[in-house]
Amino acid sequence: MKAIGIVGSPRKNGNTDILVSRVLEGAREAGLDTSKYLLNEMKYSGCQACEYCKSHDHCRLDDDVTKLLEEMKEADAVVFGSPIYFSLFSGQFKLMEDRMYSLIDAAFVPRLRPGKKAIIVTSQADAEVENYARAADDFALALKMLGFEVADIIRMVDGITPDAVLAKGELLDMARSAGAALGGR
Ligand SMILES: Cc1cc2nc3c(=O)[nH]c(=O)nc-3n(C[C@H](O)[C@H](O)[C@H](O)COP(=O)(O)O)c2cc1C
Repeated sequence: MKAIGIVGSPRKNGNTDILVSRVLEGAREAGLDTSKYLLNEMKYSGCQACEYCKSHDHCRLDDDVTKLLEEMKEADAVVFGSPIYFSLFSGQFKLMEDRMYSLIDAAFVPRLRPGKKAIIVTSQADAEVENYARAADDFALALKMLGFEVADIIRMVDGITPDAVLAKGELLDMARSAGAALGGR
């Protein structure tokens, strides 16, 4: 079994990256193979709305996200991580998300094989989780439409400094457990 992690923060080793890595660590402990993708280091375009993917089973663009979409198709689980920027996911993440349109056919039926799990990770500066919970909740709805089973949402608050999450042992443990649960434990 395989889990992949996607980090939508430009901060390498920042809160989102640390939490996604922690989920992947748990997944490895449960016997899964893992790999991680840093969107900020990848070259890709946003969806062109060309509708090519509605008459073909893949996106017409050929860039780093095309490869990532192929990895998503192969993986048993995907960990999606993004910081909250102006109430939403980061621009890096949103460009990738729109390309996931190619994962559904012309009738909006998912092309992914059933049972693919997703875990969402967010990080925000605000102390109140409810103030920005909607971004992940809305993304979870999109993932369900795309055929994913959303297993967990891990939400970091007070994430002002890049390593603030390291002081939150309980959240780090939750992230690891969410990853371990991907192995069916
Ligand atoms: C452009 C920008 C917009 C932001 N907007 C918000 C926001 O609307 N609400 C919030 O709580 N934090 C906001 N933040 C703070 C980040 O969400 C927060 O620092 C987060 O923990 C960063 O995660 P990272 O360490 O993984 O990069 C913003 C930061 C940036 C750079």
